[in-house]
Amino acid sequence: MFYFRYMRTKHFIRYTFFDKITFPRKFKKNIRTLNYLKNMKILVTGGAGFIGSNFIHYILKKYPEDQIVNLDALTYAGNLENLKDISDDSRYKFVKGDICDKDLVNELVKDVDVIVNFAAESHVDRSILDGENFVRTNVLGTFNLLEAAKNNGNKRFHHISTDEVFGHLGPNDPCFNESTPYSPRSPYSASKASSDHLVRAYFHTYGLPVTISNCSNNYGPFMFPEKLFPLFITNLMEGKKVPVYGDGMNVRDWLYVEDHCAAIDLILRKGNVGETYCIGGDAEKTNMEITKKIIELMGKDESSIEYVKDRPGHDKRYAIDFSKIKKELGWEPKISFEDGLQKTIEWYKNNESWWKNIKSGEYQEYYAKQYGK
Ligand code: NAD
Ligand code: TYD
Repeated sequence: MFYFRYMRTKHFIRYTFFDKITFPRKFKKNIRTLNYLKNMKILVTGGAGFIGSNFIHYILKKYPEDQIVNLDALTYAGNLENLKDISDDSRYKFVKGDICDKDLVNELVKDVDVIVNFAAESHVDRSILDGENFVRTNVLGTFNLLEAAKNNGNKRFHHISTDEVFGHLGPNDPCFNESTPYSPRSPYSASKASSDHLVRAYFHTYGLPVTISNCSNNYGPFMFPEKLFPLFITNLMEGKKVPVYGDGMNVRDWLYVEDHCAAIDLILRKGNVGETYCIGGDAEKTNMEITKKIIELMGKDESSIEYVKDRPGHDKRYAIDFSKIKKELGWEPKISFEDGLQKTIEWYKNNESWWKNIKSGEYQEYYAKQYGK
Protein backbone atom coordinates (compact mmCIF):
# COMPACT_ATOMS: atom_id res chain seq x y z
CA MET A 1 0.00 0.00 0.00
CA PHE A 2 2.75 2.35 0.99
CA TYR A 3 4.56 1.52 -2.23
CA PHE A 4 1.47 2.31 -4.27
CA ARG A 5 0.89 5.68 -2.55
CA TYR A 6 4.51 6.61 -2.86
CA MET A 7 4.48 5.93 -6.56
CA ARG A 8 1.23 7.83 -7.07
CA THR A 9 2.62 10.89 -5.41
CA LYS A 10 5.40 10.76 -7.95
CA HIS A 11 2.77 10.36 -10.70
CA PHE A 12 3.84 6.80 -11.30
CA ILE A 13 1.69 3.77 -11.77
CA ARG A 14 4.25 1.06 -11.78
CA TYR A 15 4.18 -1.99 -13.97
CA THR A 16 5.85 -3.93 -11.23
CA PHE A 17 2.94 -3.25 -8.91
CA PHE A 18 0.46 -4.76 -11.34
CA ASP A 19 2.73 -7.61 -12.18
CA LYS A 20 2.46 -8.83 -8.61
CA ILE A 21 -1.35 -9.13 -8.86
CA THR A 22 -3.06 -11.80 -10.89
CA PHE A 23 -5.56 -9.96 -13.07
CA PRO A 24 -7.31 -11.65 -15.95
CA ARG A 25 -5.02 -11.19 -18.94
CA LYS A 26 -7.27 -8.80 -20.87
CA PHE A 27 -7.82 -6.56 -17.83
CA LYS A 28 -4.14 -6.55 -17.07
CA LYS A 29 -3.35 -5.43 -20.60
CA ASN A 30 -5.82 -2.54 -20.39
CA ILE A 31 -4.36 -1.36 -17.12
CA ARG A 32 -0.96 -1.33 -18.71
CA THR A 33 -2.25 0.93 -21.46
CA LEU A 34 -3.08 3.47 -18.76
CA ASN A 35 0.47 3.49 -17.51
CA TYR A 36 1.30 6.90 -18.82
CA LEU A 37 4.55 7.47 -17.03
CA LYS A 38 5.84 10.91 -16.19
CA ASN A 39 9.07 11.83 -14.38
CA MET A 40 10.66 8.82 -15.97
CA LYS A 41 14.23 7.85 -15.29
CA ILE A 42 15.35 6.18 -18.48
CA LEU A 43 18.40 4.07 -19.13
CA VAL A 44 19.24 4.63 -22.79
CA THR A 45 21.84 2.24 -24.17
CA GLY A 46 23.79 3.23 -27.26
CA GLY A 47 22.78 6.87 -26.75
CA ALA A 48 25.99 8.20 -28.32
CA GLY A 49 25.05 6.72 -31.70
CA PHE A 50 22.81 8.11 -34.41
CA ILE A 51 19.26 7.30 -33.30
CA GLY A 52 20.05 7.10 -29.57
CA SER A 53 21.48 10.64 -29.48
CA ASN A 54 18.49 11.99 -31.44
CA PHE A 55 16.20 10.21 -28.95
CA ILE A 56 17.97 11.73 -25.92
CA HIS A 57 17.60 15.21 -27.40
CA TYR A 58 13.95 14.51 -28.18
CA ILE A 59 13.09 13.34 -24.65
CA LEU A 60 14.96 16.06 -22.75
CA LYS A 61 13.29 18.71 -24.90
CA LYS A 62 9.79 17.28 -24.56
CA TYR A 63 9.81 16.15 -20.90
CA PRO A 64 11.50 18.63 -18.55
CA GLU A 65 11.08 16.23 -15.64
CA ASP A 66 12.55 13.11 -17.20
CA GLN A 67 16.08 11.98 -16.47
CA ILE A 68 18.36 10.00 -18.72
CA VAL A 69 21.34 7.78 -18.06
CA ASN A 70 23.19 7.03 -21.29
CA LEU A 71 25.25 3.81 -21.26
CA ASP A 72 27.48 3.64 -24.32
CA ALA A 73 30.73 1.79 -25.01
CA LEU A 74 31.82 4.48 -27.50
CA THR A 75 32.68 2.06 -30.29
CA TYR A 76 33.70 3.58 -33.64
CA ALA A 77 30.01 4.60 -34.05
CA GLY A 78 29.59 6.26 -30.65
CA ASN A 79 30.39 9.95 -30.52
CA LEU A 80 30.00 12.27 -27.52
CA GLU A 81 30.05 15.22 -29.91
CA ASN A 82 26.44 14.23 -30.67
CA LEU A 83 25.52 15.17 -27.09
CA LYS A 84 27.88 18.01 -26.26
CA ASP A 85 25.07 20.59 -26.02
CA ILE A 86 23.47 18.66 -23.12
CA SER A 87 26.60 17.36 -21.40
CA ASP A 88 26.07 19.77 -18.46
CA ASP A 89 22.32 19.23 -18.17
CA SER A 90 21.57 17.98 -14.65
CA ARG A 91 18.93 15.61 -16.04
CA TYR A 92 21.50 13.79 -18.16
CA LYS A 93 24.33 11.47 -17.15
CA PHE A 94 26.78 9.62 -19.40
CA VAL A 95 28.34 6.31 -18.39
CA LYS A 96 31.02 4.82 -20.62
CA GLY A 97 30.54 1.07 -20.56
CA ASP A 98 29.53 -2.09 -22.32
CA ILE A 99 26.04 -3.59 -22.25
CA CYS A 100 27.81 -6.96 -21.90
CA ASP A 101 29.27 -5.87 -18.52
CA LYS A 102 26.93 -7.66 -16.07
CA ASP A 103 27.86 -5.82 -12.88
CA LEU A 104 27.74 -2.37 -14.42
CA VAL A 105 24.42 -3.02 -16.17
CA ASN A 106 22.93 -4.43 -12.98
CA GLU A 107 23.93 -1.35 -10.98
CA LEU A 108 22.50 1.04 -13.57
CA VAL A 109 19.25 -0.85 -14.06
CA LYS A 110 18.55 -0.80 -10.30
CA ASP A 111 18.22 2.93 -10.39
CA VAL A 112 15.95 3.52 -13.40
CA ASP A 113 12.28 3.01 -14.32
CA VAL A 114 12.69 1.95 -17.93
CA ILE A 115 15.36 0.72 -20.31
CA VAL A 116 15.45 1.64 -23.98
CA ASN A 117 17.95 -0.49 -25.83
CA PHE A 118 19.52 1.16 -28.88
CA ALA A 119 23.02 -0.24 -28.35
CA ALA A 120 24.03 -2.41 -31.27
CA GLU A 121 26.46 -3.00 -34.03
CA SER A 122 24.31 -1.57 -36.79
CA HIS A 123 26.01 -1.65 -40.20
CA VAL A 124 25.26 -4.53 -42.58
CA ASP A 125 28.53 -4.18 -44.53
CA ARG A 126 30.61 -4.39 -41.35
CA SER A 127 28.67 -7.49 -40.31
CA ILE A 128 29.64 -9.09 -43.62
CA LEU A 129 33.32 -8.25 -43.06
CA ASP A 130 33.24 -9.63 -39.48
CA GLY A 131 30.11 -10.64 -37.58
CA GLU A 132 31.57 -11.46 -34.17
CA ASN A 133 30.84 -8.15 -32.47
CA PHE A 134 27.30 -8.28 -33.85
CA VAL A 135 26.60 -11.52 -32.04
CA ARG A 136 28.33 -10.31 -28.90
CA THR A 137 26.63 -6.92 -28.54
CA ASN A 138 23.31 -7.51 -30.26
CA VAL A 139 22.60 -10.95 -28.80
CA LEU A 140 24.62 -11.32 -25.59
CA GLY A 141 24.34 -7.65 -24.71
CA THR A 142 20.55 -7.72 -25.06
CA PHE A 143 20.41 -10.91 -22.99
CA ASN A 144 22.44 -9.21 -20.29
CA LEU A 145 20.10 -6.20 -20.21
CA LEU A 146 17.04 -8.46 -20.05
CA GLU A 147 18.53 -10.38 -17.12
CA ALA A 148 19.21 -7.14 -15.26
CA ALA A 149 15.66 -5.92 -15.97
CA LYS A 150 14.22 -9.20 -14.68
CA ASN A 151 16.43 -9.34 -11.59
CA ASN A 152 15.63 -5.78 -10.54
CA GLY A 153 11.85 -5.90 -10.21
CA ASN A 154 10.83 -6.58 -13.81
CA LYS A 155 11.70 -3.19 -15.24
CA ARG A 156 9.93 -1.87 -18.33
CA PHE A 157 12.07 -2.70 -21.38
CA HIS A 158 11.80 -1.30 -24.88
CA HIS A 159 13.91 -2.88 -27.58
CA ILE A 160 14.81 -1.02 -30.78
CA SER A 161 14.84 -3.36 -33.71
CA THR A 162 14.76 -3.25 -37.47
CA ASP A 163 12.56 -4.30 -40.37
CA GLU A 164 15.57 -6.27 -41.66
CA VAL A 165 14.65 -9.18 -39.36
CA PHE A 166 11.81 -9.98 -41.79
CA GLY A 167 14.18 -10.64 -44.70
CA HIS A 168 13.38 -9.00 -48.02
CA LEU A 169 10.48 -8.54 -50.42
CA GLY A 170 9.87 -8.91 -54.13
CA PRO A 171 8.54 -5.89 -56.03
CA ASN A 172 4.87 -6.88 -55.65
CA ASP A 173 4.93 -8.50 -52.21
CA PRO A 174 2.77 -6.97 -49.47
CA CYS A 175 4.63 -4.83 -46.92
CA PHE A 176 6.11 -6.29 -43.72
CA ASN A 177 3.82 -6.15 -40.71
CA GLU A 178 3.89 -7.44 -37.12
CA SER A 179 2.85 -10.94 -38.27
CA THR A 180 5.49 -11.35 -40.98
CA PRO A 181 7.65 -14.40 -40.19
CA TYR A 182 11.28 -13.70 -39.35
CA SER A 183 13.71 -14.50 -42.16
CA PRO A 184 16.94 -12.51 -41.65
CA ARG A 185 19.59 -12.76 -44.36
CA SER A 186 22.67 -10.86 -43.12
CA PRO A 187 24.75 -11.41 -39.97
CA TYR A 188 23.45 -8.01 -38.77
CA SER A 189 19.77 -8.83 -39.25
CA ALA A 190 20.24 -12.36 -37.89
CA SER A 191 21.74 -10.96 -34.68
CA LYS A 192 18.89 -8.44 -34.36
CA ALA A 193 16.34 -11.21 -34.96
CA SER A 194 17.95 -13.27 -32.18
CA SER A 195 17.70 -10.35 -29.80
CA ASP A 196 14.01 -9.83 -30.66
CA HIS A 197 13.32 -13.49 -29.87
CA LEU A 198 15.04 -13.16 -26.51
CA VAL A 199 13.04 -10.04 -25.66
CA ARG A 200 9.78 -11.83 -26.47
CA ALA A 201 10.84 -14.89 -24.51
CA TYR A 202 11.34 -12.74 -21.40
CA PHE A 203 7.78 -11.48 -21.72
CA HIS A 204 6.28 -14.96 -22.01
CA THR A 205 8.55 -16.69 -19.51
CA TYR A 206 9.06 -14.06 -16.81
CA GLY A 207 6.30 -11.54 -17.49
CA LEU A 208 8.90 -8.85 -18.21
CA PRO A 209 7.01 -5.77 -19.48
CA VAL A 210 8.62 -5.48 -22.90
CA THR A 211 7.81 -3.84 -26.20
CA ILE A 212 9.68 -4.09 -29.49
CA SER A 213 9.70 -1.70 -32.43
CA ASN A 214 10.82 -2.80 -35.89
CA CYS A 215 11.65 0.31 -37.87
CA SER A 216 12.60 0.92 -41.48
CA ASN A 217 15.75 2.82 -42.58
CA ASN A 218 16.31 6.10 -40.74
CA TYR A 219 18.13 9.20 -41.96
CA GLY A 220 18.89 12.60 -40.43
CA PRO A 221 21.46 14.43 -38.29
CA PHE A 222 24.30 12.56 -36.52
CA MET A 223 24.13 9.54 -38.83
CA PHE A 224 27.54 7.92 -39.15
CA PRO A 225 28.95 8.50 -42.66
CA GLU A 226 29.18 4.80 -43.52
CA LYS A 227 25.45 4.54 -44.31
CA LEU A 228 23.92 5.56 -47.65
CA PHE A 229 22.69 9.12 -46.95
CA PRO A 230 25.61 10.59 -45.02
CA LEU A 231 28.20 8.70 -47.07
CA PHE A 232 26.86 10.06 -50.34
CA ILE A 233 26.27 13.60 -49.05
CA THR A 234 29.75 13.91 -47.53
CA ASN A 235 31.50 12.22 -50.48
CA LEU A 236 29.92 14.79 -52.80
CA MET A 237 30.98 17.61 -50.47
CA GLU A 238 34.54 16.25 -50.69
CA GLY A 239 34.35 16.12 -54.49
CA LYS A 240 34.39 12.29 -54.47
CA LYS A 241 32.19 9.80 -56.29
CA VAL A 242 29.29 7.95 -54.69
CA PRO A 243 29.58 4.13 -54.70
CA VAL A 244 26.26 2.58 -55.79
CA TYR A 245 26.02 -1.16 -55.16
CA GLY A 246 24.88 -3.35 -58.08
CA ASP A 247 22.29 -1.75 -60.34
CA GLY A 248 20.99 0.67 -57.68
CA MET A 249 17.50 -0.83 -57.92
CA ASN A 250 17.27 -2.07 -54.32
CA VAL A 251 14.42 -0.45 -52.42
CA ARG A 252 14.33 0.86 -48.85
CA ASP A 253 11.57 2.65 -46.92
CA TRP A 254 12.99 5.85 -45.40
CA LEU A 255 11.96 7.58 -42.16
CA TYR A 256 13.31 10.85 -40.77
CA VAL A 257 14.90 10.05 -37.40
CA GLU A 258 12.78 12.49 -35.38
CA ASP A 259 9.64 10.64 -36.47
CA HIS A 260 11.20 7.41 -35.23
CA CYS A 261 11.95 9.05 -31.85
CA ALA A 262 8.32 10.18 -31.58
CA ALA A 263 7.12 6.63 -32.22
CA ILE A 264 9.44 5.15 -29.59
CA ASP A 265 8.29 7.74 -27.07
CA LEU A 266 4.64 6.85 -27.70
CA ILE A 267 5.27 3.13 -27.37
CA LEU A 268 7.16 3.68 -24.14
CA ARG A 269 4.35 5.66 -22.55
CA LYS A 270 1.22 4.22 -24.16
CA GLY A 271 2.18 0.95 -25.81
CA ASN A 272 0.82 -2.39 -24.70
CA VAL A 273 3.45 -4.58 -23.14
CA GLY A 274 4.23 -7.80 -24.94
CA GLU A 275 3.51 -6.09 -28.26
CA THR A 276 5.57 -5.38 -31.33
CA TYR A 277 5.08 -2.24 -33.40
CA CYS A 278 6.24 -1.80 -36.99
CA ILE A 279 7.35 1.73 -37.84
CA GLY A 280 7.84 3.02 -41.38
CA GLY A 281 8.08 6.17 -43.43
CA ASP A 282 5.70 5.44 -46.32
CA ALA A 283 8.63 6.47 -48.51
CA GLU A 284 9.82 3.54 -50.61
CA LYS A 285 12.66 4.60 -52.90
CA THR A 286 15.25 2.84 -55.02
CA ASN A 287 18.85 3.65 -54.14
CA MET A 288 19.16 5.20 -57.59
CA GLU A 289 16.24 7.58 -56.96
CA ILE A 290 17.91 8.69 -53.75
CA THR A 291 21.31 9.00 -55.35
CA LYS A 292 19.97 11.16 -58.17
CA LYS A 293 18.00 13.36 -55.75
CA ILE A 294 21.02 13.92 -53.51
CA ILE A 295 23.21 14.67 -56.54
CA GLU A 296 20.66 17.21 -57.81
CA LEU A 297 20.25 18.93 -54.43
CA MET A 298 24.02 19.14 -54.04
CA GLY A 299 24.40 20.78 -57.46
CA LYS A 300 26.39 17.87 -58.95
CA ASP A 301 25.79 15.67 -62.00
CA GLU A 302 25.56 11.96 -62.68
CA SER A 303 29.25 11.66 -63.50
CA SER A 304 29.60 11.47 -59.68
CA ILE A 305 28.05 8.00 -59.70
CA GLU A 306 30.34 4.99 -59.52
CA TYR A 307 28.78 1.55 -59.82
CA VAL A 308 30.61 -0.85 -57.52
CA LYS A 309 30.41 -4.56 -56.74
CA ASP A 310 27.10 -5.51 -55.15
CA ARG A 311 26.75 -6.33 -51.45
CA PRO A 312 26.65 -10.13 -50.93
CA GLY A 313 23.09 -11.26 -50.18
CA HIS A 314 21.88 -7.70 -50.81
CA ASP A 315 18.24 -7.49 -49.62
CA LYS A 316 16.09 -6.42 -52.55
CA ARG A 317 13.26 -4.48 -50.96
CA TYR A 318 12.00 -3.40 -47.52
CA ALA A 319 8.55 -1.88 -47.00
CA ILE A 320 6.53 -1.43 -43.84
CA ASP A 321 2.84 -1.49 -43.07
CA PHE A 322 2.59 0.72 -39.97
CA SER A 323 -1.21 0.62 -39.64
CA LYS A 324 -1.06 -0.98 -36.17
CA ILE A 325 0.83 1.86 -34.47
CA LYS A 326 -1.26 4.37 -36.43
CA LYS A 327 -4.52 2.82 -35.27
CA GLU A 328 -3.55 1.98 -31.68
CA LEU A 329 -1.29 4.90 -30.75
CA GLY A 330 -2.09 7.53 -33.37
CA TRP A 331 1.45 7.69 -34.77
CA GLU A 332 2.34 8.49 -38.34
CA PRO A 333 5.35 10.17 -39.95
CA LYS A 334 5.18 13.97 -39.89
CA ILE A 335 8.23 14.86 -41.95
CA SER A 336 7.97 14.23 -45.68
CA PHE A 337 10.87 12.61 -47.53
CA GLU A 338 11.54 15.84 -49.45
CA ASP A 339 11.70 17.98 -46.28
CA GLY A 340 13.71 15.37 -44.39
CA LEU A 341 16.27 15.12 -47.17
CA GLN A 342 16.65 18.94 -47.35
CA LYS A 343 17.10 19.15 -43.57
CA THR A 344 19.64 16.33 -43.62
CA ILE A 345 21.74 17.87 -46.40
CA GLU A 346 21.62 21.23 -44.58
CA TRP A 347 22.78 19.57 -41.36
CA TYR A 348 25.81 17.94 -43.00
CA LYS A 349 26.66 21.23 -44.72
CA ASN A 350 26.50 23.07 -41.39
CA ASN A 351 28.43 20.43 -39.45
CA GLU A 352 31.47 19.77 -41.58
CA SER A 353 33.85 19.43 -38.65
CA TRP A 354 31.60 16.72 -37.13
CA TRP A 355 31.89 14.39 -40.13
CA LYS A 356 35.41 15.45 -41.14
CA ASN A 357 36.66 14.34 -37.70
CA ILE A 358 35.05 10.95 -38.22
CA LYS A 359 36.28 10.52 -41.76
CA SER A 360 39.87 11.31 -40.78
CA GLY A 361 40.24 8.46 -38.30
CA GLU A 362 39.75 4.66 -38.26
CA TYR A 363 37.11 5.28 -40.91
CA GLN A 364 39.75 5.42 -43.65
CA GLU A 365 40.85 1.86 -42.95
CA TYR A 366 37.24 0.70 -43.12
CA TYR A 367 36.64 2.62 -46.36
CA ALA A 368 39.70 1.06 -47.97
CA LYS A 369 38.59 -2.45 -46.93
CA GLN A 370 34.99 -1.95 -48.03
CA TYR A 371 35.47 0.00 -51.26
CA GLY A 372 39.00 -1.07 -52.17
CA LYS A 373 40.47 2.46 -52.15
P1 NAD B 1 24.79 3.42 -34.39
O1 NAD B 1 25.74 2.41 -34.93
O2 NAD B 1 24.83 4.81 -34.91
O3 NAD B 1 24.94 3.52 -32.80
C1 NAD B 1 25.11 2.40 -31.99
C2 NAD B 1 25.58 2.89 -30.63
O4 NAD B 1 25.71 1.74 -29.77
C3 NAD B 1 26.96 3.56 -30.67
O5 NAD B 1 26.94 4.74 -29.90
C4 NAD B 1 27.89 2.53 -30.03
O6 NAD B 1 28.99 3.10 -29.35
C5 NAD B 1 26.94 1.82 -29.07
N1 NAD B 1 27.38 0.45 -28.75
C6 NAD B 1 27.77 -0.51 -29.62
N2 NAD B 1 28.12 -1.63 -28.94
C7 NAD B 1 27.91 -1.36 -27.63
C8 NAD B 1 28.07 -2.12 -26.45
N3 NAD B 1 28.54 -3.38 -26.47
N4 NAD B 1 27.75 -1.54 -25.26
C9 NAD B 1 27.30 -0.25 -25.23
N5 NAD B 1 27.16 0.51 -26.31
C10 NAD B 1 27.45 -0.03 -27.50
O7 NAD B 1 23.35 2.78 -34.59
P2 NAD B 1 21.95 3.46 -34.92
O8 NAD B 1 21.83 3.60 -36.39
O9 NAD B 1 21.77 4.63 -34.04
O10 NAD B 1 20.96 2.30 -34.49
C11 NAD B 1 20.47 2.23 -33.16
C12 NAD B 1 19.54 1.05 -33.05
O11 NAD B 1 18.48 1.18 -33.99
C13 NAD B 1 20.21 -0.28 -33.36
O12 NAD B 1 19.72 -1.24 -32.47
C14 NAD B 1 19.76 -0.60 -34.78
O13 NAD B 1 19.70 -1.99 -35.00
C15 NAD B 1 18.37 0.02 -34.79
N6 NAD B 1 17.86 0.48 -36.10
C16 NAD B 1 18.63 1.31 -36.87
C17 NAD B 1 18.12 1.79 -38.07
C18 NAD B 1 18.90 2.74 -38.93
O14 NAD B 1 18.46 3.07 -40.03
N7 NAD B 1 20.05 3.23 -38.48
C19 NAD B 1 16.84 1.38 -38.50
C20 NAD B 1 16.09 0.52 -37.69
C21 NAD B 1 16.63 0.09 -36.48
P1 TYD C 1 22.59 1.22 -45.67
O1 TYD C 1 22.52 2.69 -45.43
O2 TYD C 1 23.86 0.50 -45.38
O3 TYD C 1 21.36 0.56 -44.91
P2 TYD C 1 20.79 -0.97 -44.95
O4 TYD C 1 21.73 -1.83 -45.68
O5 TYD C 1 20.72 -1.32 -43.50
O6 TYD C 1 19.46 -0.87 -45.61
O7 TYD C 1 22.24 0.94 -47.20
C1 TYD C 1 21.03 1.41 -47.76
C2 TYD C 1 20.99 0.95 -49.20
O8 TYD C 1 22.03 1.61 -49.93
C3 TYD C 1 21.26 -0.54 -49.36
O9 TYD C 1 20.45 -1.06 -50.40
C4 TYD C 1 22.71 -0.62 -49.77
C5 TYD C 1 22.92 0.67 -50.53
N1 TYD C 1 24.30 1.23 -50.46
C6 TYD C 1 25.00 1.52 -51.63
O10 TYD C 1 24.51 1.33 -52.76
N2 TYD C 1 26.27 2.00 -51.52
C7 TYD C 1 26.87 2.21 -50.30
O11 TYD C 1 28.05 2.64 -50.28
C8 TYD C 1 26.12 1.93 -49.12
C9 TYD C 1 26.74 2.15 -47.77
C10 TYD C 1 24.84 1.46 -49.25
